[in-house]
Amino acid sequence: MTGVTLKMRRSYPEDDRAKIFKGRYLESIPDKEFDKADLITDVFGVFSYTKTPMVVLEKYWNLLNAGGKIYIHFGSKSNGMIIDQKNERHLLIEWIENNTPFNVL
Ligand SMILES: C[S@@+](CC[C@H](N)C(=O)[O-])C[C@H]1O[C@@H](n2cnc3c(N)ncnc32)[C@H](O)[C@@H]1O
Repeated sequence: MTGVTLKMRRSYPEDDRAKIFKGRYLESIPDKEFDKADLITDVFGVFSYTKTPMVVLEKYWNLLNAGGKIYIHFGSKSNGMIIDQKNERHLLIEWIENNTPFNVL
């Protein structure tokens, strides 16, 4: 299990199987520092805060094993819209379907 956070606000069990990246933006951590994953979850996490959602999605894609799944929950505040680096608004689901190899479930 791998976790990423800018600041650790609660304690977590010491476990050799858990690798926690603390104090670094996910977007700035090279892919080679991560193990590939079958499941990536982002519950009000990086995706809700990043100014570069496309960069984050690309990173998740790079880190996912073939056949893996990504679960993103970013709430209803944004009405499902994201803003890309050209400052254009997109419905996330449509953008993913049109621009990535992901299947939206
Ligand atoms: C609202 S908390 C949610 C944490 C967790 N998913 C939960 O439900 O308890 C948001 C987390 O995302 C982290 N975060 C936000 N943007 C980040 C980024 N660009 N890189 C790394 N961590 C980030 C914050 O440090 C924080 O730990």
